[in-house]
Amino acid sequence: MSPIDDALKLRFGPEAPSAPALLGQAEFPAQLANRRSHRSFKPDPLDRELVRSLCALALCAPAKSDLQQCDIVIIEDADQRAKLMEIIPGNAWMNSAPAFLVFCANNRRQRQLSEWRGRRFANDHLDAFFNASLDAGIALATFMMAAESVGLGCCPVSAIRNESQKVSDLLALPTHVFAVAGLALGWPAKEGQISMRLPLETTLHTDRFCEDALAEQIGAYDARRAEHQPFSSQRNAEIFGEAELYGWSEDKARQYSRPDREDFGNFIRAKGFNLS
Ligand SMILES: Cc1cc2nc3c(=O)[nH]c(=O)nc-3n(C[C@H](O)[C@H](O)[C@H](O)COP(=O)(O)O)c2cc1C
Repeated sequence: MSPIDDALKLRFGPEAPSAPALLGQAEFPAQLANRRSHRSFKPDPLDRELVRSLCALALCAPAKSDLQQCDIVIIEDADQRAKLMEIIPGNAWMNSAPAFLVFCANNRRQRQLSEWRGRRFANDHLDAFFNASLDAGIALATFMMAAESVGLGCCPVSAIRNESQKVSDLLALPTHVFAVAGLALGWPAKEGQISMRLPLETTLHTDRFCEDALAEQIGAYDARRAEHQPFSSQRNAEIFGEAELYGWSEDKARQYSRPDREDFGNFIRAKGFNLS
């Protein structure tokens, strides 16, 4: 088996397709198959031009209607960085990252253009929020692919949205601009591991959506993960107790049993978005 096949079978299970030679021969698909988030970094600083060039590559990503609604804030100032880390305590691993960026959705420019050109902005509805968020997500993913292709490690950080208003104030984000995710970046200190995914039978559909065998597929996935990558601890065991078989589905059900970011909708509305 080629390195890409090994990685895909580890990630998706033994039924994962074998990659055709076209994919097997190229370097990038194998890198993608092997990718993982990194949360531990060497102290080596990152060259400023490298980070800025990676941002340029990220912004080469496609953008809805060429509206170019992703902006990136590179946190360079040590004081600013310390303040940002203080806003999201409980994520100590982030401190080891020599670089930290914030990917923002910017629907402001489009509205400014409409105003400057004397045109009505006739699309003040949920789609404006959605498109800008998506552009930021695509740019974030593109940044990661570019960074990982030269051996850097990254981890996206949506934890910054636990405190959206504080982050917005710190970064001076105006109306219709908001932080979608942070990104910790550096040279990985550890190898990390491939994180297993749901089998493709669950997430890959042909012609129409189908979830007929979902419960069995999730059960099998829980068992596969428990065997190869068991969770190191059980979430909120003080509330839910210790489960005998603690799999992905139990972890995610526990995670979402508690409210989180309940104020995000209000924050986005206060940013000027009409979410209807
Ligand atoms: C939008 C987004 C936000 C994320 N936010 C966080 C975060 O706040 N903290 C964290 O430790 N990991 C975060 N992650 C990383 C995910 O936990 C990780 O991608 C997932 O567990 C799968 O692992 P892998 O990336 O190694 O395949 C985030 C990932 C994405 C795509």
